[in-house]
Amino acid sequence: MGERLVLGIESSCDETAAAVVRGGVSVLSNVVASQTELHARYRGVVPEIASRSHMQRILPTVQEALAVAGVGIADLDGIAVTNRPGMIGCLLVGITAAKTLSWRFGIPLLGVDHVQAHIHAAFMTRPDLPLPLLALIASGGHTALYLVPEPGAAERVGATRDDAAGEALDKGAALLGLPYPGGPAIQAAARTGNPAAVALPRSLLGPDSLDFSFSGVKTALLYHLRGAGGGSPTPTLAPAALADLAASYQAAIVDVLVTKLARAARRFPVRSLAIGGGVARNELLRARLGADKAFADLALVFPPLDLCADNGAMVAGVGDLLLGRGEIADLSLAAAATAAATSRAPRPR
Ligand code: KG4
Ligand code: ZN
Repeated sequence: MGERLVLGIESSCDETAAAVVRGGVSVLSNVVASQTELHARYRGVVPEIASRSHMQRILPTVQEALAVAGVGIADLDGIAVTNRPGMIGCLLVGITAAKTLSWRFGIPLLGVDHVQAHIHAAFMTRPDLPLPLLALIASGGHTALYLVPEPGAAERVGATRDDAAGEALDKGAALLGLPYPGGPAIQAAARTGNPAAVALPRSLLGPDSLDFSFSGVKTALLYHLRGAGGGSPTPTLAPAALADLAASYQAAIVDVLVTKLARAARRFPVRSLAIGGGVARNELLRARLGADKAFADLALVFPPLDLCADNGAMVAGVGDLLLGRGEIADLSLAAAATAAATSRAPRPR
């Protein structure tokens, strides 16, 4: 049982990734070929460039994942692949590779929801985490809150109405003249800044809402910069002013994430809290959650940084779960642009 070997393939966005996981939790290899440098000049992911690059990198990445893990393809018990949500052209590259290998070597194929995989990183980090779990998944493409009764099941209880948190960081960084991806660049610039230097709005959408909106804070930053630069959207900022603005902008976004998590933790009888997705790498977010009394009674699960950003290990982890349940896909497995809002729990609660 526990010794199943699953290959996980991920190509939904701009990382070509493959990993081998044993027993659902033991990461034998986790190879990520990032395309960041290809997209940096466009300040965002260009779908055609991403899918072309996935095509060039997918097989070498799979081969490297197998080699690092020290396993042959015939040793695998399952081949898991992200089939939703994501850019269709990108998803199709991973799906086609997985189908081809599955068919050629007679290995079960498993279709994995990318958001489910981000949530699952929490169970790979701490398999015995107390349930139910409250999870925040925040990345460049999604920002949402999930109630998780058990591994592999999740109910979405809040989501962004406009930009994702990572998208707001990426666009804010562009306004500040910082490089792409914006999250790490803003985090680095913010370290020497004063987060209270510039008052930026925290859009909470009413006292009860668990939804998010990040377009207002982005616009507020733009107007602030226009004021500072006499109309130019990207004025040249002195280093101290840049640090203050980066710190204020990061704090505004993190404040909203923490506030919504606190609301959800009050509303639902959860026993643990996890974060996932690229924005979950953020050091301020981690520090604020760790220090906030609202979460003192919960087990906090912060997956290691390489399990937060897009990776194949989290896909293999969900794949192992599906294999255990006998939920095998066939060659008709299709790509889908959107996430399933709610995935079913396998047993009634
Ligand atoms: O999960 P991910 O690797 O890819 C998507 O599915 O989007 O997330 C990428 C996002 C980007 O918006 C990036 O700016 C953000 O995660 N990010 C961060 C940090 N590292 C990456 N945001 C805040 N702080 C970080 N340290
Ligand atoms: Zn992701």
